[in-house]
Amino acid sequence: MITETEKQKLEAIYQNLLHDERILKMKEIPMHNGSNCYLHTFKVVKGCFKRAIKKKDIDYETLLYACVFHDYYLYDWRKHREFRKGHGKNHPQISINNAKKDFQISDAAAEIISSHMWPINFKNFPHSKEAKILCDVDTMVATGEFLTSKKHKAKKEAKYLEEISHLFD
Ligand SMILES: [Fe+2]
Ligand SMILES: [Fe+2]
Repeated sequence: MITETEKQKLEAIYQNLLHDERILKMKEIPMHNGSNCYLHTFKVVKGCFKRAIKKKDIDYETLLYACVFHDYYLYDWRKHREFRKGHGKNHPQISINNAKKDFQISDAAAEIISSHMWPINFKNFPHSKEAKILCDVDTMVATGEFLTSKKHKAKKEAKYLEEISHLFD
């Protein structure tokens, strides 16, 4: 179980990342039927932590960094043809490279990011508990985004931003 001290430490890291200007740039990258990379990312973080706090032996800090940077690829594949082909397979490694350059994430976080597109990246199975959580929750959040209309998302944007404003409620 997660301790109060650990929660406070993670919340502080989360707040720094949530308001970091390099990460805010992800708002400009459209995603999944009218969502954007920033909202998607922090919905995934929240979803992962909802699951993770119920489990034992989780490396929460590593999970947090992996979630925040899992889609830190920083391009719009719809606009850049060179990225379109193979986006599904290639963006985890591109995100790792960007995150290592901008924020110095750990190898353990990179490992979790690398398998989040399984089974599209079939050889890269999510082995750890943290990697399985990210892979599952990412799929769930993306599916929800695809199934919600653009109009509905636009209406709910303020609510979504409120939901992601803190890691722990
Ligand atoms: Fe992804
Ligand atoms: Fe994602």
